[in-house]
Amino acid sequence: MLKKSIYLIGFMGAGKTSIGHALGEKSGFPVIDTDERFEVYTGIPIKDFFEQYGEACFRNKETEILLSLPDSPSIITTGGGIILKEKNRQFLKESGRVVFLQCSPKVFLERLKGDQTRPLIKNKSAEEISEMYEKRLPLYLESASFTINTSDLSIEEAAETIISRMNL
Ligand code: S3P
Repeated sequence: MLKKSIYLIGFMGAGKTSIGHALGEKSGFPVIDTDERFEVYTGIPIKDFFEQYGEACFRNKETEILLSLPDSPSIITTGGGIILKEKNRQFLKESGRVVFLQCSPKVFLERLKGDQTRPLIKNKSAEEISEMYEKRLPLYLESASFTINTSDLSIEEAAETIISRMNL
């Protein structure tokens, strides 16, 4: 039985959303995606929001959304930068169990190729994107209750691994 929410964290392209949905289907718990909430709450697609208001404003709203999620146990898939704010990291640790979906740069770079929806990787080279990941890595690790490497796992396998580790 799930007593606390499960947060899936990880870099863009690590599979948070797909694995979160598979986890929801297998466990029967509701799935909430912070990026999706962001777009419903602001009425603006994230990429347009970045263009109009910038990253700092996005981060503040992202925190508002995280802190106002329902208390009832859910599977919460997060935006890749959620761990950037200390306040968010604290909240994640206190309010649930946090699973870091680790993924090798080779795999996420392949998945992110040609993506037009993520403002932070637009016009960035593979090296720059990998550097962003390396900078964030300690924050993902620091926030996580446990880590799964998703590079060689199917969505189903990753969801099953979480279910057995969490005793869901
Ligand atoms: C971001 C990741 C995105 C989204 C926004 C910023 C980031 O979510 O929140 O574009 O800073 O890593 P995904 O990780 O779901 O792509």
